[in-house]
Amino acid sequence: MKKNTIFVVAARPNFVKMAPILRAFDSELGSRQRTLVHLGQHYDEKLSQVFFDELGISKPYVKFFVGSGSHGRQTANALILFEKLLLEFSGNIAGVVVVGDVNSTLAATLAACKLNIPVAHVEAGLRSFDNAMPEEINRKLVDAVSSVLFVSEKSGILNLKREGIRDEAVHLVGNVMIDTLAYEMKNINCTNDMKRFVLVTLHRPSNVDDRNELKNIIKFLGRISNDLEIIFPVHPRTMKNLMTFDLVKLVKKMNITMIEPLSYRENIGYMSRAKLVITDSGGVQEETSFLGVPCLTLRKNTERPSTVEFGTNTLVGNDYEKARLLVDDILDGKYKVGKNIPLWDGAAAKRIVAVIKSLWY
Ligand code: UD1
Repeated sequence: MKKNTIFVVAARPNFVKMAPILRAFDSELGSRQRTLVHLGQHYDEKLSQVFFDELGISKPYVKFFVGSGSHGRQTANALILFEKLLLEFSGNIAGVVVVGDVNSTLAATLAACKLNIPVAHVEAGLRSFDNAMPEEINRKLVDAVSSVLFVSEKSGILNLKREGIRDEAVHLVGNVMIDTLAYEMKNINCTNDMKRFVLVTLHRPSNVDDRNELKNIIKFLGRISNDLEIIFPVHPRTMKNLMTFDLVKLVKKMNITMIEPLSYRENIGYMSRAKLVITDSGGVQEETSFLGVPCLTLRKNTERPSTVEFGTNTLVGNDYEKARLLVDDILDGKYKVGKNIPLWDGAAAKRIVAVIKSLWY
């Protein structure tokens, strides 16, 4: 009987990370030796199916609906559904591959480990050292019980060492999100029009679940909208809160253009044509660094320090005075210019599959 590797996706950033791994796996070992499972933490067409279509991800073997809800409910739903599926595959599984740090990543890892199925975690070792972020808890727990840890940047190696993870389990392979970006560049409209707009993305609970924080961010964006057009594709969490907090009117008054969530190619297109990007997303910090576009991150910490050390990213937290000065630097051409980040070269997925092949096949 052929051995089967199970690949798990559930939410928007997972699709971007998994696409190159599946492509590399299929070309090295063949698609018959793997099964793709979509747990359905994200379910809206614009947060899910669009990414399958654009990135050429095959139809999943099964698509569950974990859906939204509290952390406990979401994680528990995913755990129950995924455990049941693993039991149905009884004994035929080489291992499970999970990516990133969303609640479903943790749930899938727990289900597999308790059944003594090896788990490989892609994007292991990233740490913000901020347990108020649900993702930080997910990352630490997933890394603690995974048997293969694929690290995207050097800081991850040190973090895992500090947590007592065996060196033999850790593989520095580079960044699969950058694999997708490098691969997709040919399909993306990067024509440099006037570069007079700012692309804004916001979805972290610390920024958007608190009315005052969200209002302060909007006021800051309003101030810079005198100089630059603001384009703001709104994540569903953020839209829900803008409505609940009665802030939609303020956004409109501030001359900020709200648009629906963008597809992968649209988003990278906007990003590469932007004068600067303002974000609280992890992936966007990486993508702007690769593209050489200035990025101001509305967070006090980052689990991706190489984007600050080598790339174009600066952490501004909620210091809007600092942010305003940096916007001036960017407009005056005085902002830092990024350098290449080691191993962010478009070949991370190939390195991952080579390790999986040697360990599980
Ligand atoms: C989740 C991840 C986060 C990741 C982000 C990317 C966790 C803890 N968080 O955050 O790490 O950066 O995805 O987007 O796993 N909703 C929809 N349609 C959908 C999905 C969600 O409208 O298809 C709305 C729901 O109102 C839901 C809210 O968005 O309550 C938040 O969704 P959820 O999956 O809980 O977290 P995200 O904020 O998307």
